[in-house]
Amino acid sequence: MSADGKDKPELPTEAELAEMDRDELATLGMKLDGVELVEYPDPWPVKGTRAEKRAERAVALWFAIAALSGLAFLVAFLWWPWKYVAPNESGYFAYSLYTPVLGFTLGLSIVAVGVGVMMYTKKFVPHEVAVQERHDGGSSELDKKTIVAQLSHSGTNSTIARRSMIKRAAGAGVGVVGLAATVFPIAGLVRNPHAKADGKDGVWHTGWKSENGERVFLRRNTGNPHDVVLVKPGDLDAGSMETVFPFRKSEEHDQHALSQALKRGDNPVMLIRLRTEDARKVVKHEGQEDFNYGDFYAYTKICSHLGCPTSLYEQRTNRILCPCHQSQFDALEYAKPIFGPATRKLAQLPIAVDEETGYFYARSDFIEAVGPAFWERKS
Ligand code: FES
Repeated sequence: MSADGKDKPELPTEAELAEMDRDELATLGMKLDGVELVEYPDPWPVKGTRAEKRAERAVALWFAIAALSGLAFLVAFLWWPWKYVAPNESGYFAYSLYTPVLGFTLGLSIVAVGVGVMMYTKKFVPHEVAVQERHDGGSSELDKKTIVAQLSHSGTNSTIARRSMIKRAAGAGVGVVGLAATVFPIAGLVRNPHAKADGKDGVWHTGWKSENGERVFLRRNTGNPHDVVLVKPGDLDAGSMETVFPFRKSEEHDQHALSQALKRGDNPVMLIRLRTEDARKVVKHEGQEDFNYGDFYAYTKICSHLGCPTSLYEQRTNRILCPCHQSQFDALEYAKPIFGPATRKLAQLPIAVDEETGYFYARSDFIEAVGPAFWERKS
């Protein structure tokens, strides 16, 4: 009899404990924990029936679905055509399916693992009814040893040990889904972002990079991707801003290139014409003293915080605002951040005016990466 007036089972000696098998230890553990097993029905009292085999196959099928869809996700993530294709071009249909395919395959694999586990629990784990009296305090060595035996006992009673089809299917399903989760960090190593580091598609460059020394002009977006309208100084009033995109004469009749130039994520640039009285207060960044053309300054539209478009230029204060997390940049001081979470200035595009045509062009690409930070970025 214990201090609280309840009967305690007699404790075995060490020698007796060493000789007890797993079932006896499990039973003892339950008694010591004050657990009374009211019901412990075997879900399949007659072994090897067709119903049991059918249930086993159903569980295995779900894990197999998880494995296949996890594998399909891996393949799609790595090799599905993901590069932008315009709606009227061949390959658009496959490109447009990229995100849905990723979502469907990964979602299905996770759901299938969940359904497989639920079905197994429902069909094969005995639905026991047990009553336990709770107690305070930590567990003794004896309790720890017996609980391990109890868990092992439950594992055996769930018959998982002899269900090799389910074990293999579950191993494959959970394993492949786990593998699919590792694809996110690993894929960056498979698709080397620096493979074309020197091309205009490399992470250090934008569509403003001039190939073969050809001039890249500033173009406005009229809403028609095939309509080319270049920008000259007289087009902007003092204190105004216009979003511009790159244009090369060699692409004049290339509908795909014309439309791509308006869509590429790191292409948009804000061309700002400061008011003359404000332009006198400008503080330029070291090494970028000649990036402007008179009162005209061109900054990337891609926020240095998380890459949203910094679409708002406030003429009175000369602040550039990013609506995503309210970062603000000072257009009079090389677009350095003055409020909000952004910590880097907006990259400035060096511009000039073509002597022959009078249109703006970019003297070079940005001299630093645009947008948010990435591993190799130092500034
Ligand atoms: S993306 Fe611009 S403030 Fe966050």
